[in-house]
Amino acid sequence: MDYSKFFKSHIYDISPYIPGKTVEKFIKLASNENDYGPSKKVIDTIKEKARYVFRYPYKDEIVKEKISEYCNSSIKKNLIKKENIILGNGSDELIEMIIKAFKSPYIGFYPSFPEYERNAKIFNEVYYKIPLEKNFMFNYEKFINNEKFEKSNVVFLCSPNNPTGGIVERRDIEKILKFDKIVVVDEAYYEFSNLTVVDLIEKYENLVVLRTMAKAFGIAGLRIGYGISNEEIIKFLHKVKAPFNVNFMAQEAALSSLDDIQSMKEKVQKILKNKEELIKILDKKFKTFESWTNFVLVDVSPYTAKEFYDKLYEKGIIIRPFGKFENFEGEYVRITVGTEEENEALINAIEEIF
Ligand SMILES: Cc1ncc(COP(=O)(O)O)c(C=O)c1O
Repeated sequence: MDYSKFFKSHIYDISPYIPGKTVEKFIKLASNENDYGPSKKVIDTIKEKARYVFRYPYKDEIVKEKISEYCNSSIKKNLIKKENIILGNGSDELIEMIIKAFKSPYIGFYPSFPEYERNAKIFNEVYYKIPLEKNFMFNYEKFINNEKFEKSNVVFLCSPNNPTGGIVERRDIEKILKFDKIVVVDEAYYEFSNLTVVDLIEKYENLVVLRTMAKAFGIAGLRIGYGISNEEIIKFLHKVKAPFNVNFMAQEAALSSLDDIQSMKEKVQKILKNKEELIKILDKKFKTFESWTNFVLVDVSPYTAKEFYDKLYEKGIIIRPFGKFENFEGEYVRITVGTEEENEALINAIEEIF
């Protein structure tokens, strides 16, 4: 059948999102999950609440309230109210809502999280990408002096950045906030960096911060993220939100996760310690980049990313191969930091193979 009269022509060029590969019994270090898993409280809650899943989700307001308390405790201020929060089916969905609600052009840097650009393409909108420095550092002057910056309405700053692990300095974010644009700061890895600009929503009406419970809180499989901004933006974003976008179990799990922040913090500390161990080994053989997250970007040349990936796969370990980044030298892979046992297995495999 000739579908071309039905299919939107701009969709043809879009590549579907390719998730990190998961194979049962393999050690998977490809999607920046928290392999220590969620708090035990979350698991108990899921078991207890399973029989109520015939209900539509109804705890949005309670979850938003609890998230606002969590945000306030991290900035030691009573600033964020539930009216400053919107929930998403993962922060992925919040990115989509932003693209649905705000006018293009959008702008971000490269390499960064691909979903900003992919969503813009889905809605047939313009997304500009400014390359990071050769060492993947963010250069404020270069970014704002690009002619495309001036044309853009929405700026996506992923900090800490996936896949490089680096940050955009707070002072640079503040300078960008002074322009007449919406500035989205994606803090998916906030709990690992302990750096946030959420407190700036008091000072800047154009700031949107995105967070997720998929990483540090270890509930990626349930899909819940949240956006924080001023009330007017949050109200506007609710207009494009799908009904019941965050499911019943995700809401329950989010509440239980936030009842046990201590357990998340302990796991984050373990992951950061494991990361140090891993980087020590990687640095002996390859080039790594400073990471404020639960993953490490590695230039594995002279091996290709595919060779590196294949060799670890043979040992039952899955990492994320990128290969070359356009206009950058090197062969890149991203490795999520796993549990102590996973890290040990990975380190042994690296020592043995490379
Ligand atoms: C920077 C960044 N933003 C957003 C997301 C999406 O997170 P979620 O699982 O909440 O949709 C990810 C996931 O990898 C990410 O790395």
